Amino acid sequence: MVQPNILIFDSGVGGLSIYQSVREQLPDANYTYLFDNEAFPYGELDDTRLVTRVAAQVRAVCAHHDHDIDIVVIACNTASTLVLPTLRQQLALPVVGVVPAIKPAAAISQKKIIGLLATPATVARPYTEQLVADFAKECQVVSVGTTALVHMAERKLRGEAVNQQDLAAILRPFKGTVDTLVLGCTHFPLLRDEIQSVVGDEVHLIDSGEAIARRVVSLVSLDSDARATAATSKHCAYATATPIKADALADFIRSIGFTDVSYSPAFLAHSLHGL
Ligand code: DGL
Repeated sequence: MVQPNILIFDSGVGGLSIYQSVREQLPDANYTYLFDNEAFPYGELDDTRLVTRVAAQVRAVCAHHDHDIDIVVIACNTASTLVLPTLRQQLALPVVGVVPAIKPAAAISQKKIIGLLATPATVARPYTEQLVADFAKECQVVSVGTTALVHMAERKLRGEAVNQQDLAAILRPFKGTVDTLVLGCTHFPLLRDEIQSVVGDEVHLIDSGEAIARRVVSLVSLDSDARATAATSKHCAYATATPIKADALADFIRSIGFTDVSYSPAFLAHSLHGL
C-alpha cells in the first residue's frame, strides 16, 4: 500500500487520541475521521441503535469512492465492545477495535488492584467482564462508568476549562486504592494530565493508543520505497451534526493536522435517515 486510507470512527472527539497515536507511526497515510456527534454520547445509547448506526456509517464511508478506505479503526471502546462481530461480518476490510487495556494493566499492577474508567455501557458489557475474567482474575477491579467525564473532554477541546472539583469527585474511588488505571474510553487520554494530577503520579495510567497504532501498522505493511515517495497526505474530519461551538472545535481539529472539517456531509445523510 503506497498511502493507506485509514478511517477512524468515534462518537465524538475521543478518537482523535487514537488518530494522534496512529499518525505518529504512519505520518504519510490518508486519514478520514468520522464522529457521530448526532447520537453522542454512545455510553448512554441503546445497544441495537448503536450497532445499526455504527454499521451504517462505516459502510457508507467505505462505499464512498472518494475515501477508498483500506482499514477501519473503531476508536471507541463503547462501540468496539459491542459492534465488532457485526462490522467484521459486513465488511471485507480489516477492522481494528479499541477495547479497555485490562490485560497490560493487570500485568503491571503491583498491588493487583486496578481501576477501570470507562463509559457506563463499557463497564457493564459482557465483553468487558470477559476481559477481566480472562486477563485480570488475580486482580481486584475498581470500575467507574461515567458520561460526565466524556462531556468534560468534549468541552476541553472546545476551549472550555476542566472543573477540577467535578473531576476529583468522579475519580474519588481510585484515590489511594489502585496503582494502575485503565483509561477505557478514548475521550479520557485527552484529559490525561488532569486525571494524573488528581489520582497522583504513583498511579500508572494506561490507554490503548500505542497498541492500536502498532496493530494498524502491522495491517497496512507499507514498503519503504513507497513511503519515501508518498504524496501529501489528506486528513479529513466529518461530523454527523453541527457541534456546539463548531468553529472552536474545527480550529482544534485543524490544529492537530486535519485539512478539511465538515459537518453533516451529504454522503452520510441517506445512510443515517431514520436511525
Ligand atoms: N469515546 C468513546 C469510548 O471510547 C465513547 C464515549 C461516548 O460517546 O459515550 O467509549
